[in-house]
Amino acid sequence: MRNLVVSTGAGISAESGITTFRDAGGLWENYPVMDVASHDGFLRDPALIHKFYNGLRAKLVSAQPNAAHRGLVELEKNFNVNVITQNVDDLHERAGSSNVLHLHGELMKVRSLTHEERVYQLPCNELSDKGLETSVDTRDPYGDAVRPHIVFFQEAVPNFDRACMLAQKADVFVVIGTSLVVYPAASLLHYAPRSAEVYYIDPNPSAVPGHVHVIAKKATEGVRELIEILTHK
Ligand code: OAD
Repeated sequence: MRNLVVSTGAGISAESGITTFRDAGGLWENYPVMDVASHDGFLRDPALIHKFYNGLRAKLVSAQPNAAHRGLVELEKNFNVNVITQNVDDLHERAGSSNVLHLHGELMKVRSLTHEERVYQLPCNELSDKGLETSVDTRDPYGDAVRPHIVFFQEAVPNFDRACMLAQKADVFVVIGTSLVVYPAASLLHYAPRSAEVYYIDPNPSAVPGHVHVIAKKATEGVRELIEILTHK
């Protein structure tokens, strides 16, 4: 089967009711990004960061995957599909995607502040807080404080190398719902081989190289069109 690599951003979850970051009314319009999503911000005010991600988590649990997430699962019948997502939500997994690589971390996980490899899926009985909320007082079984398992600005993107390796093997590369402004994620598209077909689904697409087929539609509609294009070839 041919390799289909999909790179997703906040736009694919917009129709599930998850707020994007840079659209009008987006998260970064209402919260100072350097306070709630940077390494320095976490050092300055970890309580604020816990509160912010507790709020996002509460919204995520009541959200459902949409037809775009499900469409990518449907494509697994005909392609070897790898999803690389900038999203911290778990909607690809809940839709049933088999291979999901998170570039910017995962909202439903926290990790030890001192031992990065100790990652806990929420809710977690091993933590001092058993629910979906964490705070500066939450302790893991070793007595260590925890932090959201999120890649903050100013931090490295540990899964980027794996993402590049996947992109380099793509026969078809699809970008969905991202403003393509945050690096290194935005550069993934350029790792796809020259021979690959490249598509970009976004109702308000950013500038992309000429060989990219732009589908200027919302994710649900755009993925439906993509399935038709790819399965009728
Ligand atoms: P942005 O908010 O920057 O961009 C959202 C994109 O989704 C825009 O291009 C919109 O046009 C598009 N969009 C809006 N509604 C859509 C819909 N229904 N269907 C398809 N597309 C739609 O979000 P990202 O590019 O994902 O990082 O942002 C990248 C990173 O910046 C995020 O992962 C996050 C943020 O800071 C961290 O928090 C670490």
